[in-house]
Amino acid sequence: MRSKVLMAVLAILVAAAAQSAVAQTAYPNRSITVIVPFAAGGPTDVVARLVGEHMTRTLGQQLVIENVGGAGGTTGMTRVAQAAPDGYTIAVGNMGTQSAAPALYPNLKYDPLTSFEQVGICNFTPQAIVAKKDTAATDLKDFLDYLKANSTKLSYGHAGVGSISHVSGTLFNAQFGLKPALVAYRGTNPALNDLVGGQIDYMVDQSLNVIPQIKGGTIKVYAIAAPARLESLPDVPTTKEAGVDFIFSAWNAMVAPKGTPKEIVDKLADALGKALDDPTTKERYVELGSTAPQGADRGPAGLQKLVESEMARITPVLKEAAAATK
Ligand code: MLT
Repeated sequence: MRSKVLMAVLAILVAAAAQSAVAQTAYPNRSITVIVPFAAGGPTDVVARLVGEHMTRTLGQQLVIENVGGAGGTTGMTRVAQAAPDGYTIAVGNMGTQSAAPALYPNLKYDPLTSFEQVGICNFTPQAIVAKKDTAATDLKDFLDYLKANSTKLSYGHAGVGSISHVSGTLFNAQFGLKPALVAYRGTNPALNDLVGGQIDYMVDQSLNVIPQIKGGTIKVYAIAAPARLESLPDVPTTKEAGVDFIFSAWNAMVAPKGTPKEIVDKLADALGKALDDPTTKERYVELGSTAPQGADRGPAGLQKLVESEMARITPVLKEAAAATK
Protein backbone atom coordinates (compact mmCIF):
# COMPACT_ATOMS: atom_id res chain seq x y z
CA MET A 1 0.00 0.00 0.00
CA ARG A 2 2.78 2.37 1.09
CA SER A 3 4.78 1.71 -2.07
CA LYS A 4 1.67 2.35 -4.20
CA VAL A 5 1.26 5.81 -2.62
CA LEU A 6 4.94 6.50 -3.13
CA MET A 7 4.67 5.50 -6.79
CA ALA A 8 1.65 7.80 -7.25
CA VAL A 9 3.46 10.76 -5.66
CA LEU A 10 6.49 10.08 -7.83
CA ALA A 11 4.33 9.97 -10.96
CA ILE A 12 2.78 13.35 -10.07
CA LEU A 13 6.21 14.87 -9.49
CA VAL A 14 7.56 13.52 -12.78
CA ALA A 15 4.49 14.84 -14.65
CA ALA A 16 4.86 18.28 -13.04
CA ALA A 17 8.56 18.41 -13.91
CA ALA A 18 7.83 17.38 -17.49
CA GLN A 19 5.09 20.01 -17.80
CA SER A 20 7.41 22.66 -16.43
CA ALA A 21 10.17 21.60 -18.85
CA VAL A 22 7.72 21.81 -21.74
CA ALA A 23 6.62 25.28 -20.61
CA GLN A 24 10.23 26.36 -20.40
CA THR A 25 11.38 25.03 -23.76
CA ALA A 26 8.23 25.66 -25.79
CA TYR A 27 7.51 29.20 -24.61
CA PRO A 28 6.93 31.37 -26.54
CA ASN A 29 5.61 29.65 -29.64
CA ARG A 30 3.37 32.51 -30.78
CA SER A 31 3.14 36.29 -30.38
CA ILE A 32 2.78 37.85 -26.92
CA THR A 33 0.23 40.62 -26.33
CA VAL A 34 1.57 43.45 -24.17
CA ILE A 35 -1.25 45.57 -22.78
CA VAL A 36 -0.28 49.22 -22.34
CA PRO A 37 -3.03 50.70 -20.16
CA PHE A 38 -2.68 54.23 -21.62
CA ALA A 39 -2.81 55.98 -24.99
CA ALA A 40 -0.20 55.39 -27.68
CA GLY A 41 2.78 57.74 -27.78
CA GLY A 42 2.88 58.41 -24.01
CA PRO A 43 5.54 57.32 -21.50
CA THR A 44 4.24 53.80 -20.82
CA ASP A 45 3.77 53.17 -24.53
CA VAL A 46 7.23 54.49 -25.42
CA VAL A 47 8.92 52.27 -22.80
CA ALA A 48 6.87 49.19 -23.70
CA ARG A 49 7.72 49.57 -27.40
CA LEU A 50 11.40 50.19 -26.69
CA VAL A 51 11.95 47.14 -24.46
CA GLY A 52 9.35 45.10 -26.40
CA GLU A 53 11.24 45.49 -29.66
CA HIS A 54 14.41 44.08 -28.08
CA MET A 55 12.54 41.32 -26.21
CA THR A 56 11.01 40.26 -29.54
CA ARG A 57 14.51 39.56 -30.82
CA THR A 58 15.53 37.68 -27.66
CA LEU A 59 12.37 35.57 -27.43
CA GLY A 60 11.98 34.94 -31.16
CA GLN A 61 8.30 35.90 -31.09
CA GLN A 62 6.63 39.27 -31.65
CA LEU A 63 5.62 41.33 -28.60
CA VAL A 64 2.50 43.09 -29.87
CA ILE A 65 1.51 46.28 -28.05
CA GLU A 66 -2.19 46.81 -27.41
CA ASN A 67 -3.24 50.16 -25.96
CA VAL A 68 -6.20 49.74 -23.58
CA GLY A 69 -6.68 53.15 -21.98
CA GLY A 70 -9.26 54.35 -19.46
CA ALA A 71 -9.79 54.91 -15.72
CA GLY A 72 -6.18 55.92 -15.05
CA GLY A 73 -4.85 52.70 -16.56
CA THR A 74 -6.93 50.44 -14.33
CA THR A 75 -9.12 49.19 -17.22
CA GLY A 76 -6.13 47.69 -19.03
CA MET A 77 -4.52 46.31 -15.87
CA THR A 78 -7.81 44.64 -14.85
CA ARG A 79 -7.89 42.92 -18.22
CA VAL A 80 -4.37 41.54 -17.66
CA ALA A 81 -5.13 40.48 -14.09
CA GLN A 82 -8.05 38.44 -15.46
CA ALA A 83 -6.21 37.01 -18.51
CA ALA A 84 -5.06 33.37 -18.83
CA PRO A 85 -1.77 32.95 -16.92
CA ASP A 86 0.06 31.45 -19.91
CA GLY A 87 2.60 34.18 -20.69
CA TYR A 88 0.78 35.31 -23.84
CA THR A 89 -0.92 38.32 -22.25
CA ILE A 90 1.30 40.55 -20.14
CA ALA A 91 1.39 44.27 -19.34
CA VAL A 92 3.59 47.26 -18.81
CA GLY A 93 1.97 49.23 -16.01
CA ASN A 94 3.37 52.07 -13.96
CA MET A 95 3.72 53.55 -10.51
CA GLY A 96 0.11 54.77 -10.77
CA THR A 97 -1.57 51.50 -11.77
CA GLN A 98 0.73 49.33 -9.63
CA SER A 99 0.95 51.39 -6.42
CA ALA A 100 -1.36 54.41 -6.28
CA ALA A 101 -4.65 53.21 -7.80
CA PRO A 102 -5.77 51.09 -4.79
CA ALA A 103 -5.78 54.26 -2.65
CA LEU A 104 -8.25 55.97 -5.02
CA TYR A 105 -10.42 53.12 -6.33
CA PRO A 106 -12.24 51.37 -3.45
CA ASN A 107 -13.67 48.77 -5.88
CA LEU A 108 -10.51 48.12 -7.87
CA LYS A 109 -10.71 44.62 -9.38
CA TYR A 110 -7.02 43.82 -8.93
CA ASP A 111 -4.40 44.04 -6.23
CA PRO A 112 -0.94 45.08 -7.49
CA LEU A 113 0.69 42.63 -5.08
CA THR A 114 -1.50 39.54 -5.38
CA SER A 115 -3.10 39.69 -8.86
CA PHE A 116 0.17 39.61 -10.83
CA GLU A 117 3.48 37.85 -11.19
CA GLN A 118 6.07 40.62 -11.09
CA VAL A 119 8.43 40.47 -14.07
CA GLY A 120 10.57 43.53 -13.50
CA ILE A 121 11.03 47.29 -13.33
CA CYS A 122 11.58 48.85 -16.78
CA ASN A 123 12.77 52.33 -15.80
CA PHE A 124 12.72 55.22 -13.34
CA THR A 125 11.88 58.71 -14.60
CA PRO A 126 11.57 62.05 -12.79
CA GLN A 127 8.62 64.39 -13.24
CA ALA A 128 9.00 67.79 -14.87
CA ILE A 129 6.92 70.86 -14.03
CA VAL A 130 5.70 72.22 -17.36
CA ALA A 131 3.27 74.85 -18.59
CA LYS A 132 1.84 76.09 -21.85
CA LYS A 133 4.28 78.03 -23.98
CA ASP A 134 2.97 81.57 -23.45
CA THR A 135 3.00 81.36 -19.62
CA ALA A 136 4.73 84.57 -18.50
CA ALA A 137 6.40 83.36 -15.28
CA THR A 138 10.17 83.24 -15.65
CA ASP A 139 11.14 80.76 -12.93
CA LEU A 140 9.52 78.17 -10.65
CA LYS A 141 8.86 80.54 -7.73
CA ASP A 142 7.33 83.07 -10.07
CA PHE A 143 5.24 80.29 -11.63
CA LEU A 144 4.01 79.15 -8.20
CA ASP A 145 2.97 82.73 -7.37
CA TYR A 146 1.03 82.82 -10.63
CA LEU A 147 -0.62 79.43 -9.89
CA LYS A 148 -1.58 80.53 -6.38
CA ALA A 149 -3.04 83.82 -7.59
CA ASN A 150 -5.08 82.14 -10.35
CA SER A 151 -5.53 78.64 -8.95
CA THR A 152 -9.24 78.07 -9.62
CA LYS A 153 -9.09 79.68 -13.08
CA LEU A 154 -6.42 77.29 -14.36
CA SER A 155 -6.53 73.71 -15.61
CA TYR A 156 -4.25 70.75 -14.95
CA GLY A 157 -4.03 67.82 -17.40
CA HIS A 158 -3.45 64.21 -16.33
CA ALA A 159 -3.82 60.60 -17.51
CA GLY A 160 -6.84 59.69 -15.35
CA VAL A 161 -7.46 59.24 -11.63
CA GLY A 162 -4.66 57.16 -10.10
CA SER A 163 -2.23 57.67 -13.00
CA ILE A 164 1.25 59.03 -12.28
CA SER A 165 0.47 62.49 -13.62
CA HIS A 166 -2.70 62.58 -11.51
CA VAL A 167 -0.80 61.51 -8.38
CA SER A 168 2.13 63.91 -8.92
CA GLY A 169 -0.35 66.73 -9.67
CA THR A 170 -2.45 65.91 -6.62
CA LEU A 171 0.62 66.04 -4.36
CA PHE A 172 1.94 69.21 -6.05
CA ASN A 173 -1.43 70.99 -5.91
CA ALA A 174 -1.99 69.97 -2.27
CA GLN A 175 1.50 71.14 -1.24
CA PHE A 176 0.95 74.60 -2.73
CA GLY A 177 -2.76 74.96 -1.94
CA LEU A 178 -3.87 74.89 -5.61
CA LYS A 179 -7.33 73.90 -6.83
CA PRO A 180 -7.24 73.91 -10.63
CA ALA A 181 -9.82 72.23 -12.86
CA LEU A 182 -8.56 68.68 -13.38
CA VAL A 183 -8.80 67.45 -16.97
CA ALA A 184 -8.48 63.67 -17.51
CA TYR A 185 -7.14 62.04 -20.68
CA ARG A 186 -6.45 58.42 -21.66
CA GLY A 187 -2.73 59.05 -21.27
CA THR A 188 -0.30 61.95 -21.02
CA ASN A 189 0.39 62.00 -24.76
CA PRO A 190 -3.08 63.42 -25.53
CA ALA A 191 -2.80 65.65 -22.44
CA LEU A 192 0.51 67.00 -23.71
CA ASN A 193 -1.02 67.68 -27.13
CA ASP A 194 -3.56 69.91 -25.40
CA LEU A 195 -0.82 71.63 -23.37
CA VAL A 196 0.99 72.40 -26.63
CA GLY A 197 -2.30 73.65 -28.08
CA GLY A 198 -2.93 75.82 -25.00
CA GLN A 199 -6.21 74.10 -24.05
CA ILE A 200 -4.81 73.28 -20.58
CA ASP A 201 -2.41 75.33 -18.44
CA TYR A 202 0.08 73.03 -16.72
CA MET A 203 1.19 69.50 -15.94
CA VAL A 204 3.59 67.63 -13.67
CA ASP A 205 4.58 64.93 -16.13
CA GLN A 206 7.39 62.51 -16.84
CA SER A 207 10.53 63.92 -18.49
CA LEU A 208 10.18 60.95 -20.84
CA ASN A 209 7.02 62.49 -22.27
CA VAL A 210 7.89 66.17 -22.29
CA ILE A 211 11.58 66.42 -23.27
CA PRO A 212 10.93 66.48 -27.06
CA GLN A 213 8.43 69.37 -26.64
CA ILE A 214 10.73 71.22 -24.23
CA LYS A 215 13.56 70.95 -26.76
CA GLY A 216 11.23 71.98 -29.57
CA GLY A 217 10.12 75.04 -27.58
CA THR A 218 6.42 74.18 -27.77
CA ILE A 219 5.96 74.14 -23.97
CA LYS A 220 7.69 75.85 -21.03
CA VAL A 221 9.61 73.93 -18.35
CA TYR A 222 10.19 75.27 -14.82
CA ALA A 223 12.06 72.45 -13.09
CA ILE A 224 12.84 68.76 -12.91
CA ALA A 225 11.55 67.22 -9.67
CA ALA A 226 14.70 65.16 -9.09
CA PRO A 227 17.81 65.48 -6.89
CA ALA A 228 20.07 66.08 -9.93
CA ARG A 229 19.77 67.77 -13.33
CA LEU A 230 19.17 65.60 -16.37
CA GLU A 231 22.00 65.02 -18.82
CA SER A 232 19.62 65.72 -21.70
CA LEU A 233 18.31 68.99 -20.17
CA PRO A 234 21.45 70.49 -18.61
CA ASP A 235 20.01 74.02 -18.43
CA VAL A 236 16.83 73.09 -16.55
CA PRO A 237 17.17 73.47 -12.77
CA THR A 238 16.09 70.88 -10.24
CA THR A 239 13.21 71.85 -7.95
CA LYS A 240 15.72 72.22 -5.10
CA GLU A 241 17.89 74.58 -7.14
CA ALA A 242 14.73 76.55 -7.94
CA GLY A 243 14.10 76.86 -4.17
CA VAL A 244 11.17 74.44 -3.96
CA ASP A 245 10.93 71.22 -1.96
CA PHE A 246 9.16 68.83 -4.36
CA ILE A 247 10.64 65.54 -5.65
CA PHE A 248 8.73 62.92 -7.62
CA SER A 249 10.05 59.83 -9.37
CA ALA A 250 7.90 57.69 -11.67
CA TRP A 251 8.51 54.15 -12.91
CA ASN A 252 7.20 51.56 -15.37
CA ALA A 253 7.10 47.84 -14.75
CA MET A 254 6.26 44.61 -16.57
CA VAL A 255 3.83 42.13 -15.00
CA ALA A 256 2.01 38.91 -15.96
CA PRO A 257 -1.25 37.47 -14.59
CA LYS A 258 -1.00 35.64 -11.24
CA GLY A 259 -0.26 31.96 -11.75
CA THR A 260 1.94 32.40 -14.84
CA PRO A 261 4.56 29.60 -14.49
CA LYS A 262 7.84 30.67 -12.90
CA GLU A 263 9.83 29.41 -15.92
CA ILE A 264 7.90 31.79 -18.17
CA VAL A 265 8.23 34.74 -15.77
CA ASP A 266 11.97 34.07 -15.54
CA LYS A 267 12.25 33.95 -19.34
CA LEU A 268 10.44 37.29 -19.64
CA ALA A 269 12.56 38.82 -16.86
CA ASP A 270 15.75 37.63 -18.54
CA ALA A 271 14.65 39.09 -21.90
CA LEU A 272 13.71 42.37 -20.18
CA GLY A 273 17.15 42.51 -18.52
CA LYS A 274 18.83 42.02 -21.91
CA ALA A 275 16.70 44.83 -23.38
CA LEU A 276 17.76 47.17 -20.55
CA ASP A 277 21.44 46.39 -21.14
CA ASP A 278 21.21 47.08 -24.87
CA PRO A 279 23.21 50.19 -25.91
CA THR A 280 20.25 51.56 -27.92
CA THR A 281 17.96 51.36 -24.86
CA LYS A 282 20.62 53.02 -22.70
CA GLU A 283 21.08 55.84 -25.21
CA ARG A 284 17.33 56.39 -25.54
CA TYR A 285 16.88 56.41 -21.75
CA VAL A 286 19.53 59.14 -21.41
CA GLU A 287 17.76 61.21 -24.11
CA LEU A 288 14.44 60.85 -22.26
CA GLY A 289 15.75 61.36 -18.72
CA SER A 290 15.12 57.76 -17.64
CA THR A 291 17.39 55.31 -15.84
CA ALA A 292 17.30 51.53 -15.89
CA PRO A 293 17.09 49.48 -12.66
CA GLN A 294 20.38 47.90 -11.65
CA GLY A 295 21.50 45.11 -9.30
CA ALA A 296 18.88 44.12 -6.72
CA ASP A 297 16.28 46.37 -8.37
CA ARG A 298 16.25 44.02 -11.39
CA GLY A 299 13.78 41.18 -12.00
CA PRO A 300 10.71 39.91 -10.10
CA ALA A 301 12.19 40.39 -6.59
CA GLY A 302 13.21 44.00 -7.31
CA LEU A 303 9.73 44.87 -8.56
CA GLN A 304 7.97 43.07 -5.69
CA LYS A 305 10.00 45.11 -3.19
CA LEU A 306 9.30 48.36 -5.05
CA VAL A 307 5.52 47.78 -5.23
CA GLU A 308 5.41 46.94 -1.51
CA SER A 309 7.37 50.05 -0.50
CA GLU A 310 5.60 52.38 -2.95
CA MET A 311 2.12 51.26 -1.86
CA ALA A 312 3.04 51.76 1.80
CA ARG A 313 4.57 55.18 1.06
CA ILE A 314 2.00 56.61 -1.33
CA THR A 315 -1.34 55.41 0.10
CA PRO A 316 -1.53 57.69 3.19
CA VAL A 317 -0.05 60.83 1.54
CA LEU A 318 -2.20 60.44 -1.54
CA LYS A 319 -5.43 60.00 0.42
CA GLU A 320 -4.60 63.10 2.45
CA ALA A 321 -3.64 65.16 -0.63
CA ALA A 322 -6.73 64.01 -2.57
CA ALA A 323 -8.97 65.16 0.30
CA ALA A 324 -7.13 68.53 0.52
CA THR A 325 -7.53 69.28 -3.21
CA LYS A 326 -11.28 68.47 -3.42
C1 MLT B 1 0.79 58.57 -16.28
O1 MLT B 1 0.67 59.75 -16.00
O2 MLT B 1 0.41 57.63 -15.56
C2 MLT B 1 1.45 58.20 -17.60
O3 MLT B 1 2.10 59.29 -18.12
C3 MLT B 1 0.40 57.67 -18.50
C4 MLT B 1 0.90 57.37 -19.88
O4 MLT B 1 1.81 56.55 -20.04
O5 MLT B 1 0.36 57.97 -20.83
